[in-house]
Amino acid sequence: MRYSARAEQQLGGTSGPPSGRDVLLHAHGIVKSYGRRRVLDGVDLVVRAGEVAAIVGSNGAGKSSMLKICAGLLAPDKGRVTISGRLGYCPQNAGVMGFLTPREHFTLFGTGRGMGGRDADRRGRELASKLDWSVARGTLAKDLSGGTRQKLNVVLSALGEPDVLLLDEPYQGFDRGSYVDFWQNVWGWRDQGKAIVVVTHMLNQLDQVDHVLDLSPRKQEAGR
Ligand SMILES: Nc1ncnc2c1ncn2[C@@H]1O[C@H](COP(=O)(O)OP(=O)(O)OP(=O)(O)O)[C@@H](O)[C@H]1O
Ligand SMILES: [Mg+2]
Repeated sequence: MRYSARAEQQLGGTSGPPSGRDVLLHAHGIVKSYGRRRVLDGVDLVVRAGEVAAIVGSNGAGKSSMLKICAGLLAPDKGRVTISGRLGYCPQNAGVMGFLTPREHFTLFGTGRGMGGRDADRRGRELASKLDWSVARGTLAKDLSGGTRQKLNVVLSALGEPDVLLLDEPYQGFDRGSYVDFWQNVWGWRDQGKAIVVVTHMLNQLDQVDHVLDLSPRKQEAGR
């Protein structure tokens, strides 16, 4: 298996190379510097419908920066990102509001994406249950355990039935069962034809994903 700053098609991927499928995310030639420090140096990533890409690399390698650029939250210095369809983004640090309950989050985020309030609440609880989380009615987000708050973060990113789902270290604090459930969800979303990008430090799933983008500085060097 070769990794590089250009995401490689996995030879051993479980779903095979669906080369005829629609490209839902295309990032081309992404360059990003902070001050004089160049973090991303001509990075490419192509993810089609029904594919999972993993972004790996050491702390500070630029994984979150790359995801923010793909999400349109950070402008690259050079390069271009094209997304087809609806986008879901799960930030590395949970962007939840402490004084709202999880179900209020479902309604707020869901209606913001054009869903009806009840539909958003139902869908949120359904996604939560798939992460082994039974949502209590009254608990405020600030009082959730760290792992459960992170589940809320993941549920919110997937709430609006996104076609492209960007997940930045999404399972921080998950217990083992929830971690396994998380990946089952990812494979399910892949089967539904979504394009998924997961930033991860856990390397044991890498032989099951379709692409691996390694942002370690050495690999970016090799990828040019
Ligand atoms: N707004 C910013 N201003 C200056 N430097 C930044 C900014 N955002 C990120 N950086 C720096 O850019 C580098 C890449 O940051 P980034 O968060 O993308 O790394 P990462 O690969 O996600 O790391 P981690 O594995 O720790 O999450 C780091 O050295 C970070 O300090
Ligand atoms: Mg990061």
